[in-house]
Amino acid sequence: MSKTTAEIRRAFLDYFSNHGHQIVSSSSLVPADDPTLLFTNAGMNQFKDTFLGTESRSYTRAVSSQRCVRAGGKHNDLENVGYTARHHTFFEMLGNFSFGDYFKEQAIKFAWSFLTEELALPKEKLLVTIYHEDDEAFDIWHKTIGLPADKIIRIATSDNFWSMGDTGPCGPCSEIFFDHGEHIWGGPPGTPEEDGDRFIEIWNLVFMQFNRTADGVMHPLPKPSIDTGMGLERISAILQNVHSNYEIDIFVKLIAAAGEIVGCQDLSDKSLRVIADHIRSCGFLICDGVMPSNEGRGYVLRRIIRRAVRHGYKLGAKDIFFYRLFDALCEQMGDAYPELVEQKPVIEKVLRVEEEQFSRTLERGMAILNSALDELEGEVVPGELVFKLYDTYGFPADLTNDVAREKGFTIDQEGFETSMAGQRERAQQASNFGKDYNSDIRSSVVSQFSGYELEQDDSVIQELFNQYGPVTELKAGEQGVVVLSNTPFYAESGGQVGDTGELRSEQASFTVSDTLKLNDAVGHHGVANGTFNVGDTVAAVIDIERRNAIRLNHSATHLMHAALKSVLGEHVSQKGSLVDAQRLRFDFSHFEGISSQQLTEIENLVNQEIRMNHSLSTQLMGLDEAKAAGATALFGEKYDENVRVVAMGPFSMELCGGTHVKQTGDIGLFKIISESGIASGVRRIEAITGQSAIQFVQDQSDLVNRLSSLLKSDQQNLEHKVVSVLDQTKDLEKQIAKLKQQMASQAGSDLISSAIEINGVKVLSAKVEGVEAKSLRNMVDDLKNQLRSSIIVLGLGQTDKVSLIVGVTADLTSKVKAGELVNYIANQVGGKGGGRADMAQAGGSKPENLESALASVASWLEQRL
Ligand code: ALA
Repeated sequence: MSKTTAEIRRAFLDYFSNHGHQIVSSSSLVPADDPTLLFTNAGMNQFKDTFLGTESRSYTRAVSSQRCVRAGGKHNDLENVGYTARHHTFFEMLGNFSFGDYFKEQAIKFAWSFLTEELALPKEKLLVTIYHEDDEAFDIWHKTIGLPADKIIRIATSDNFWSMGDTGPCGPCSEIFFDHGEHIWGGPPGTPEEDGDRFIEIWNLVFMQFNRTADGVMHPLPKPSIDTGMGLERISAILQNVHSNYEIDIFVKLIAAAGEIVGCQDLSDKSLRVIADHIRSCGFLICDGVMPSNEGRGYVLRRIIRRAVRHGYKLGAKDIFFYRLFDALCEQMGDAYPELVEQKPVIEKVLRVEEEQFSRTLERGMAILNSALDELEGEVVPGELVFKLYDTYGFPADLTNDVAREKGFTIDQEGFETSMAGQRERAQQASNFGKDYNSDIRSSVVSQFSGYELEQDDSVIQELFNQYGPVTELKAGEQGVVVLSNTPFYAESGGQVGDTGELRSEQASFTVSDTLKLNDAVGHHGVANGTFNVGDTVAAVIDIERRNAIRLNHSATHLMHAALKSVLGEHVSQKGSLVDAQRLRFDFSHFEGISSQQLTEIENLVNQEIRMNHSLSTQLMGLDEAKAAGATALFGEKYDENVRVVAMGPFSMELCGGTHVKQTGDIGLFKIISESGIASGVRRIEAITGQSAIQFVQDQSDLVNRLSSLLKSDQQNLEHKVVSVLDQTKDLEKQIAKLKQQMASQAGSDLISSAIEINGVKVLSAKVEGVEAKSLRNMVDDLKNQLRSSIIVLGLGQTDKVSLIVGVTADLTSKVKAGELVNYIANQVGGKGGGRADMAQAGGSKPENLESALASVASWLEQRL
């Protein structure tokens, strides 16, 4: 009997739970504290450190159904989605794990029994691959399980040596394949026909044995372990007797919903598959705190949304549609992932806003692309066009590629990359993934942190480093790092800056300018003011005033985080935080600007909780217990199994290792000083507390006082007064402009009397003063009106320059061209000019020649009139 996808997921978890495995919930798609990974792409990601032996858990067997995204980064399936039966951007990976518990034999037995007994798959349809050298696996499959030798295929390539990335846990693997039958083309793995669809890999059993480091060396793991992964969609397809993943129950429903929303009746259209696939990755990515943006994870999300939208419009969608499909996703997957339903309003809004933004330019971009494709000679779309579409219309290159491919073109990816050179910064951002962060000095000491209770602690120097590496002695004046057995100094983490202060021995002191983590040790960075040796006893004394200021800002950050969730919504998730002695800075996901009314509300809420004077409680508890109690855990943050939970009354509860106030009342006052957007979908608030906040308020009030006294007003009427002063100024400006105009026309009238007549034509050539150069034109027009048929020359002499203008009435332009005349004069005052026959202007640099130049006009005209 056919099973639904939900039933298969449940059956898997139950089977392994019944065999002693702890059911562990899917981790976020944003990997915790793993800079080598763009998105969670396998069930084992959240257990990476457990495999490596650097993290211990209370269980040695685990089972999970993990949400995964393979789009962007090392494993990228985005461009295949819609074109094959089995590629997805989002999929679920069922996996069972052993951390040094069972190994190869038991893993193979579990897999075989689950498939052939629990799911009752016919044995004769199954075959396996093993790593070519793995005789042990061969024997288990052959002798213990009884699989015929011809169904055990040895593979020598990396296909049967699984690794998470370039570095990390890895090992040989054995893959189980299902034979969909002769009616489908394809051959077994290892044959030239293996890419056909007949033999499909369903389950990968990885025998984790090594940790590969960046230098390529494979270090044996402390204990051989097991990691397995089975694509839920693939196994569902088999059990539901369909060939394509897109025909399983979840997809049938999503595709039908998509068809209805965009008005497409042909449910086999591949664009519907693309849309159905993409709503899953987009819905879950936003649910896990990713916001569309132009870099890193946010950019991948944006690309997927835009690709879905484009396919929708291709099918004839008339309106914003993508977010409307989210309902159907909640129906299909909301039971297994309740967080989807909880975050529904936000996810829908983010999808809608993104689509609205994109759809404004989609049509024009498509028109440009289509007409370019119509005219294109050859089959390659030039990189520059791909870039232009990206830059102007927000078409990611893979979207252009998608459209081009449908019409039989490819794109010039390389040319596009070259055009993208100007966007280096973004590229830089992406290449941060994969960086090795731990290549600096290393310490094997585990320092005890005593700074939750103490400001000063006696301790012993365990290690010393100068700029070149470990030393046994630091001399006076030398810069270095001191590692102590125990210390009250807080090492920078979780956004809180490191402490500063002093280490004092009997004869010398060491000024600590920063404190940073060094593996499990605490590194005190600074300068020695005398000689220090490993083994010396020192008193470690922190700068307590600074630390206290930091405490206020850190506790206020927690209150603000809770207030943001309460005022703006549960979707607010921390994207970055900086807490130092001066202020707190908090970056978080939110899709629009925050109104001043909301800011006031947030500020009021925090101050209200400060006044409640909650005692701060800190408690150590299990991670799952803490999450169940409702503690806020942060994306991208790596937590141990036991975590410290900081709570302030019923209002705030967060996982946090930082240092805090005793009572919220200690914070005194909380004041927001700025709010801004730092990237698409990410806002930043800066705020201050305690004495700094009081000082800020005092400064503002002083400023108001000074302004009041300058404006001779009391505070209540200050705003009114400023408005009236501004109004007055505007009035005055208007009056001045009017007066200037009047003065200019007055000056013009005065000039009329100095007009002379040359051969019957009225000529006025005069120097003017006290008017602005820009009113000369008006003056000439006025004079023309008054003198009628005439030639007018005006020269305005200023300290170091001259402005000239010549006007000739239309009846005289056949004899005298204003441009020529103005040039004749300009030549004499060190300039040149030009213009029309009836009006021309010029400048000059020799005011001393202006009068003689104006005087020369008469003789010049005499020859022409
Ligand atoms: N981690 C293994 C995979 O992803 C099971 O295939």
